[in-house]
Amino acid sequence: MKTTIYYFSGTGNSLKIARDLTNKLDECELVPIAKIWQMESLASTSEKIGFVFPLYFLGLPKIIFDFITKIDIDKSNYFFAVVTKGGDFDCVALHQLEEILKSKSKTLNAGFFIRMPANFYHNDPQTLQKQIFENSIREIERISTIINNNQKHLKIELSERNRKSFEKHNYKFHKTVYKSDELFYVDENCTQCGTCEKICPVNNIKLVEGVPQWQHKCQRCAACINYCPEKSIQYSDVKLKNQRYHHPEITVQDIISQKSIKE
Ligand SMILES: Cc1cc2nc3c(=O)[nH]c(=O)nc-3n(C[C@H](O)[C@H](O)[C@H](O)COP(=O)(O)O)c2cc1C
Repeated sequence: MKTTIYYFSGTGNSLKIARDLTNKLDECELVPIAKIWQMESLASTSEKIGFVFPLYFLGLPKIIFDFITKIDIDKSNYFFAVVTKGGDFDCVALHQLEEILKSKSKTLNAGFFIRMPANFYHNDPQTLQKQIFENSIREIERISTIINNNQKHLKIELSERNRKSFEKHNYKFHKTVYKSDELFYVDENCTQCGTCEKICPVNNIKLVEGVPQWQHKCQRCAACINYCPEKSIQYSDVKLKNQRYHHPEITVQDIISQKSIKE
């Protein structure tokens, strides 16, 4: 295959972007990271490699950091990334990616952020979501032209001070993320349907006598909280009320399909 896009997605934004991009790129396949990241050996033979994933705490999700660090990319010679994010702030994800690729004697040729609806702590109003989706279609068009033409496109504009401070913030998140699931719980609306157990991309939830128990290998993707049909999953004292979000075109089954079912 000429191009492989590796993706990770908790609430569908990155999956939607990855799918649309795959359809626009020459000879492109889409591979879910959650299905393969724990394999003993990982290697790609594609000419071009892309990574599509959400921004977490100003930088890379831990699963993305671990996956890209592990995969053998010796045979590839063009690298791109599309980071979906729920806010408008600067961040350090592309710098981190550049660093990992540099350590493998490779270069990040093109990197992009796409603003998508927020999925945790707050939600964007429907009117804004509509604008965001319309804009994302235009962005995909622009990005796919750049990638199909093997162009370089990387504007990384962060002061050294911010880069260091954001990186520190993100790597602190990596250190604590697995156990941060201790703060999840279900309220009285839980019907023990098991959607959370099935949907978790890293198989981190087990129903014990019908009650979801988080197993402390969480990536904090927020799939469980946002796809719970009863809106019963809560996180710490975050006031979620009825606010939940997942991409309207990405179903429970789409999220389940990205993961490994054996464990
Ligand atoms: C744990 C967590 C941390 C996040 N941190 C940020 C952030 O620092 N900046 C930001 O703009 N969005 C942040 N977001 C929002 C997501 O990056 C955004 O909604 C993304 O498009 C979700 O992608 P997905 O639907 O593919 O999971 C965060 C979301 C989660 C769940």
